[in-house]
Amino acid sequence: MSSFHVFLTSDYLLASLIPLVLFVLSLLILGNPKDVLEVIFGGSRTRSAVPGHFSLQRAAASYAQYTQLARGELSTMRKSYGGMSWAHRRIGYDLGYTKKLARLEESIQVNGMVASSIARLAKEEFPEEMDGAHSGLLRPPIAGDLGRVRESLKHFVRDWSQEGCGEREKIFGPILAVLREADPVMRARMQVLVPGAGLGRLAWEISELGFRTTANELSFFMNLASRFLLSEKTTQRPNQHVLQPFSSWFSHQRTTDTLFRSVSFPDVVPRLSDHLVLAEKDFLSIRPPEGSDGFDFVVTLFFIDTSLNVIETIEHIHSLLRPGGQWINLGPLLWTGGGQAAVELSLEEVLKLAEMLGFDVSDDHAPQHLRPRTVECEYTADQTAMMKWLYQAEFWVATKRL
Ligand SMILES: C[S@@+](CC[C@H](N)C(=O)[O-])C[C@H]1O[C@@H](n2cnc3c(N)ncnc32)[C@H](O)[C@@H]1O
Repeated sequence: MSSFHVFLTSDYLLASLIPLVLFVLSLLILGNPKDVLEVIFGGSRTRSAVPGHFSLQRAAASYAQYTQLARGELSTMRKSYGGMSWAHRRIGYDLGYTKKLARLEESIQVNGMVASSIARLAKEEFPEEMDGAHSGLLRPPIAGDLGRVRESLKHFVRDWSQEGCGEREKIFGPILAVLREADPVMRARMQVLVPGAGLGRLAWEISELGFRTTANELSFFMNLASRFLLSEKTTQRPNQHVLQPFSSWFSHQRTTDTLFRSVSFPDVVPRLSDHLVLAEKDFLSIRPPEGSDGFDFVVTLFFIDTSLNVIETIEHIHSLLRPGGQWINLGPLLWTGGGQAAVELSLEEVLKLAEMLGFDVSDDHAPQHLRPRTVECEYTADQTAMMKWLYQAEFWVATKRL
């Protein structure tokens, strides 16, 4: 008997047929091959039971829990204070420290108004997705991330307050100067992508120049905060909202008043339009605009160093651009460290990589607005603090070879 014949009459055949039969049966029951594969391998829907760090569910839960979590931290601070001797507590009292802690409590309330309004909007805008998250269906319940909420609230200052104006002018200036060179009449047909858009001010500024702009952001801590400004339900007029964004960190403060100073926002009210759209997903899943051969510009600001694989990121930027399209970048190459990213490159290596992947990077002989340069800048800085973190960020423009 041939070995093939043995196989046909053996249990091996039966064993190999069982998965196929099960697959066909599931297809008949569930209807869609994608659903079947999700059930078998755990697709995005099944995975949503354990929300990711930047997911809608975790972000919404974190905004909803902000007040409770921040109060928890305050009560630890009060306990530490209360642990001192009576004499030292007396001195602390005379210095006004107990009043300072009381002001922190008020400040949590001020910031909590914005945070809970963002959480409510999330529930309204994503009723289906939020169902499980709020009814306690998720086990274990989602633990809020206080740090990420605070970071996102600080971005309101960077992107949308008068106080953030200086920070913005320095970094937006070189980028907008390149875009302003485009023919104003042609701009309405030109597509610009801003990956890692944060709270979207740069994307909004670009759309105001007349370009069709896509603000792409993965983190729902950012996306929900952006929606809070974009929605007529939550934001109707300039400077409608108030935060005390620096109150949670007592370090580097000259006075108690600077610690608790209020910042109002937004300095202008942004709205979505056919010139400004959101893409709330992973940059790597973005595709070129339909019916075109690619974006005219991809603008990355403090973005490429967030990549787990910057080679893949720059390759993707290249694939999204039309031939002759331009990649405008500004950032300091702040890698995550600890081996989280596959590669952590120097500026020299990144520029060489861009050339290898099919870009021509402008040099010092290019017209002024395209020349590479170092831009000294800050990032969500507290302007009155006794500490400054200054980046020597690098700006460059790279053109996709024809
Ligand atoms: C350092 S922040 C810069 C934000 C903004 N460009 C600015 O300068 O204020 C980087 C942003 O990129 C986002 N991000 C990181 N990886 C992403 C990805 N794969 N797709 C989309 N956004 C991403 C992060 O959530 C974060 O908001």
